[in-house]
Amino acid sequence: MRLDVVTIFPEYLEPLNVSLVGKARARGVLDVRVHDLRDWTHDRHNTVDDTPYGGGPGMVMKPEPWGEALDEILASGEPGQEPPVLVVPTPSGRPFTQELAVELAEKPWLVFTPARYEGIDRRVIEEYADRLDVREVSIGDYVLAGGEAPVLVMVEAVARLLPGVLGNAASHQDDSFAPGAMADLLEGPVYTKPPEWRGRGIPEVLLSGHHGRIARWRRDQAFARTAAHRPDLIERCDPEALDKHDRAA
Ligand code: ADE
Repeated sequence: MRLDVVTIFPEYLEPLNVSLVGKARARGVLDVRVHDLRDWTHDRHNTVDDTPYGGGPGMVMKPEPWGEALDEILASGEPGQEPPVLVVPTPSGRPFTQELAVELAEKPWLVFTPARYEGIDRRVIEEYADRLDVREVSIGDYVLAGGEAPVLVMVEAVARLLPGVLGNAASHQDDSFAPGAMADLLEGPVYTKPPEWRGRGIPEVLLSGHHGRIARWRRDQAFARTAAHRPDLIERCDPEALDKHDRAA
């Protein structure tokens, strides 16, 4: 998968060199290209922003550098290559969900446009929405200083779904929010060795070797946790996805 990120703070994307994403790059699973938006400015001050039409606080990112940057990046695709999905982080976008991460993980090429200030001149989004699949995406109901941290969040969520990135392919199958048997439930608690730590033991059932009882216990824990932390998830889940035992809880 190819990922391009256009930003005025390329150094903010340094974490893409470490851990899971860094290793995926080193192994050639991910081709990450971070670009400095100011490379597509032509004035002495490398200006990327200006005051908003209609007045109001803050600054708006100018369309010209974005247009030149995106045109050049789009033209750099291999001949015959499918055009990228353009991912625009913005607090006014659609929510970023595991479902969207799964969808994006199936695309061969993503281009991210993290903005600063009050956002990018609207005409840029319109211009590319005519030719590309453009997704305006919010990572949550809070406002950050820019879209770079959201890009890190989204890239990590997508990269761990790519074949060969996680050591154990099964390990994202029972994630909270993963589709499947525990759909719509948060993951319950996990334990490892030693069997006793500061006087605290391990739930007996996990030592029983009884797979059926362990699965039942995990399901009950997931249900209890979801009821406590995210009652909204239980309310909106398909009643068919709940078993008899859940409904009694
Ligand atoms: N830019 C600023 N805040 C954001 C958010 N919550 N999600 C995506 N992009 C953002």
